[in-house]
Formats: sequence, structure tokens, C-alpha cells
Amino acid sequence: MNKKIQKILLKKNKSKIVSLTAYSKSIAKILDQYVDIILVGDSMANVLYGHKNTHKISLKNIIQHTLSVKLGVKKSLLVVDMPKGTYNNFKSAEKNIKLVINETKCDAVKLENNKKNYKIIEKLTKRKIPVMGHIGYTPQFKKKFKIEGQTRSETLKLLKEAKLIQKAGAFSIVLECLSPHSAKLITRELNIPTIGIGSSFYCDGQILVTDDMLGISGFYPKFVKKYVNLNRIIAKAVKKYSREVKLKKFPKIKNFLNGTKRRK
Ligand code: KIV
Repeated sequence: MNKKIQKILLKKNKSKIVSLTAYSKSIAKILDQYVDIILVGDSMANVLYGHKNTHKISLKNIIQHTLSVKLGVKKSLLVVDMPKGTYNNFKSAEKNIKLVINETKCDAVKLENNKKNYKIIEKLTKRKIPVMGHIGYTPQFKKKFKIEGQTRSETLKLLKEAKLIQKAGAFSIVLECLSPHSAKLITRELNIPTIGIGSSFYCDGQILVTDDMLGISGFYPKFVKKYVNLNRIIAKAVKKYSREVKLKKFPKIKNFLNGTKRRK
């Protein structure tokens, strides 16, 4: 088994798993120093491309961004979100996932669950393709946002889903927007680590969309903690640059290229 995946599995019940999303090398390089898992999420559809959902992001988009992210990753586990429509049946899932793995050399892929793809996950994991599951609010398949697992019967359904994904061979599972009670029960009942987003502190690890926690996406639901307001910091720097160019304060003689090295 991939050593990075082994390391993640060993953290269950010992130490929390830290995960964030990345879509480019520069961000990935920073994250790589502090996180266990970097996800090239299809959330790039909303965050980068301004789509109203994640449905239209293509395999080509995902591969292109993963190639960039890969350049910044040395130690973290690199997981790639498979876009909607790329794993409708085993044949297309295998073809598309192999393309992603071969082109990007990522470590694993993530598949959102639609309650029909257990067999697909099982066949993939039997062929040694590492799969991360994803249940709860799964934007590829659910039209309306809702906190999942608020009643006992919903919780039991989610637990069954999670167990089937584990049985199919997934090495971990994202729990998105689950009630604390459901997240606690599922985390306790599974042997594989759970990674929560909007699902309380009971999960084995946490993931956030990096642009949200850095304050650049403009999307700040209650479960996101904005660790910095990067929008404000960037705006301040750009305003200063703009003023200096107009006032001919930039560039200065020290910024002239004679005798200095240019970036290749
Ligand atoms: O696409 C994404 O960023 C995700 C995370 C929110 C888990 O799937």
C-alpha cells in the first residue's frame, strides 16, 4: 500500500488528520508543509470558474490543476476529485481514473457517493486504485443544501452508506455537513478515518476549501473559520502598487534589470 495512505490510516484514533484543497502550485507548496492531505477539489468550479455548482468542471480542468498542484507537493497525500459524470459505470470510471493517475501521478481519487457506486468502488480498489469516499451533502448529486443526518433514521442510513463504502475498500471518507451526532456515530463505527467538513469535531480529520479559510472566495458559511482576510490584504497591496505606478514611484532604479537575474 502507498506509504502516505498507510500514514493516514495510522492516525485513526491517535491524531487528527489535517486536509485542505489546492488548485495551484503556489498554494500547494505552502499547504504541503502543514497538512496531511491535499485535495484538488471540484469546488474549483465555484471558486475559480464562477460556476453556480460543480457539475460542469471537466476532467481536463481537473488534470490541468492537479499537474500544477503536484509541482508543490512533496509529502502530503495528493487526492483528486473525480468530476461529475466521469464515474457513472465501472468502465468509464476505470478509464477516466487511470487517465488522471497516469497523467498527474496523484496518490488517490475521491468519488462522491450516489448510493449506486459501491460496486464501482469495490472493483477499483480491487485493482489497487485508492479511493476516498464522500457522503452527506454531495454537491454533484444533491440539488439543495441540507444538514444531513438530523433524525435517527437518516443517521442510520448514513451509517449504512459509510459502512458499504468502507466494505468496498475505500481508505477514508469525507463527511460533508452531517449532524454532530451522525459524524460521531459514523466515526466511532468505522475502521477507516472520517474527514469532516461542516461535520463537527467528532471526525478523525478536517477539510476546508482553502480559499474560504483564507478569506478570498467570498463564501463563508458558519462551518468555515476565516483565518485571515486575504482579500483585504491583497486589495491593500494592489492599491499601493496602482498608486506608485501612477505617481512614478515604481519602478525605481533599483528595480532596473541591468546586472540582475531574470526569472526564467
Ligand atoms: O471539492 C471540494 O473541495 C470538496 C471538499 C469540500 C471536500 O469536495
